[in-house]
Amino acid sequence: ALTACGGGEETAEESGLDLVNAGALTVCADFPYAPFEYYDEDGNEVGLDIDIAQAIADDLELELEIMQTAFEGIQSGVALNANQCDLAISGMTITEARAGNMLFSDPYLDDNLSVLARSDSGIETLEDLEGFEGTVGAQSDTTGAVEAGERGLDLREYTDAGLMLQGLESGQVDAAFGNISILAYQAAQSDDLVFVDEIETGEQLGIAAQLENQELIDAVNQVLADLEASGKLEELKEFWLHS
Ligand code: ARG
Repeated sequence: ALTACGGGEETAEESGLDLVNAGALTVCADFPYAPFEYYDEDGNEVGLDIDIAQAIADDLELELEIMQTAFEGIQSGVALNANQCDLAISGMTITEARAGNMLFSDPYLDDNLSVLARSDSGIETLEDLEGFEGTVGAQSDTTGAVEAGERGLDLREYTDAGLMLQGLESGQVDAAFGNISILAYQAAQSDDLVFVDEIETGEQLGIAAQLENQELIDAVNQVLADLEASGKLEELKEFWLHS
């Protein structure tokens, strides 16, 4: 816990927020996962998640500190529970299993699963995946990996979503399972990849805090509600997901 050091205006810690590092909002995110969190040509951390994290930090009058963290540690709650960060924002799907280990915010995006295939793979529809003899890729510990596994496909798992996309480009795998917003984004960048279809999983993305940090999640929900009401959230989604 933190002790307030008097004087000045009311800071986040004086208002009662329990932070892993005083004066900063420390956020775990797994890069690269464009267009949610990735490095631009100048090495800056950019994306929809980064802008939302910045809005939360601004609202709390805290510096934003982004920590690159492997997705395994994020989705299991280990990174949060080991006090590595106050929040995890990583294009992460709200699931019941995960909600046992962390506290989720209200959803900020609907993001069904989908499949992206190489144009030379012969996969044009989801039906083409039934009995498919080739190999598909997914990032490990993600909902996409679970879906590919349930379909009984030969699955190659990548710990890193960037390596998964490279594997698809280079032909290591014939298709990839993942959320629609990253795969649609990727499809738009390459002529060799075809966007196959959407799988209606009803997934929604949320921001997570430590299980006991209800106060912080309340603050996050307030910021999300404000961004929604002002139209800013829609603007950010339009900018990052559809440009
Ligand atoms: N939405 C998926 C899940 O929660 C994938 C998220 C992967 N995020 C990332 N930054 N690599 O399982």
